[in-house]
Amino acid sequence: MILRALLHDAATQLVATRAAGDLDEGRLEAELLYGAAAGLERTQVIARGSEDVTPEVSGAFEALLARRLAREPLAYILGRRECYGMTFEVGRGVLVPRPETELLIETTLAAVREHPSARRLVRVVDVGTGCGVVALAVAWHAPNAKLYALDRATAALAVAGRNRTRFGLRDRVVLLQGDLFDALPERVEVVTANLPYVPTVELEALAPEVRDWEPAWALNGGKDGLEMIRRLIYCVPEYLASGPRAVLLEVGDGQATKVARLLAAAVGGPARLHADLAGRPRVVEVRVGY
Ligand SMILES: C[S@@+](CC[C@H](N)C(=O)[O-])C[C@H]1O[C@@H](n2cnc3c(N)ncnc32)[C@H](O)[C@@H]1O
Repeated sequence: MILRALLHDAATQLVATRAAGDLDEGRLEAELLYGAAAGLERTQVIARGSEDVTPEVSGAFEALLARRLAREPLAYILGRRECYGMTFEVGRGVLVPRPETELLIETTLAAVREHPSARRLVRVVDVGTGCGVVALAVAWHAPNAKLYALDRATAALAVAGRNRTRFGLRDRVVLLQGDLFDALPERVEVVTANLPYVPTVELEALAPEVRDWEPAWALNGGKDGLEMIRRLIYCVPEYLASGPRAVLLEVGDGQATKVARLLAAAVGGPARLHADLAGRPRVVEVRVGY
């Protein structure tokens, strides 16, 4: 069979099982899966469309395709996900970074760069770091920042550790295990967090890729989705430095106003809402003393 026909067949199956929304998405996923099976970049896969597929590569591809048809997330099968222009290892036990988290990275970076001691050192904590995406992207782009990356899940910290090594950031990113701020050894200027915020009743309605594969503890925000965020807001003043300081929290659709009110009261400054590309406020920020 020639590669182009194999990929078209696979794309059709991906659409039929709803793993892909349409044929274009199905084809993209099929190309990435084939690339993983054959050890090729996507561009090379596209360029070889009229070539015959060897039985060995075909077998390896079918095995990966079967996993995707069972609705395993593409990022778990490939073992990686791009975010903020960087490639992170991901796998079972960690949440796959979402596009909206790029907004948290961007606004956290702005809070670090605009901090009055930006020329010296700005200490930042990323609470609920998962694969380390926020902490590592901030450390990578802000050489003056020292990062603490905290998570309760040891599985997540193992992946974050490998990503830290991959980016050569062992000297500026400290990984610590514990509940919320428990393991944090000093006060920091900037707190950033993407904690679970999906209301428990909404978990069942999530896509199978999320509901059946991603860790519930990374998603489940309790009754109204804000259980963990409320706990963080309650204790955050205790972990903030006394000078200029900022807190940035990613929130779910419809949660920003409530979180803004709680955070402003706890940190003692006005809250700003940052909207995603669809215009929905997804990051709540409070800065004091800038
Ligand atoms: C929504 S995921 C975010 C992961 C990553 N920061 C990202 O943006 O892709 C939430 C993370 O918070 C962690 N987490 C949940 N509750 C926590 C708690 N009480 N203390 C520390 N980490 C927690 C989970 O293990 C998970 O890795």
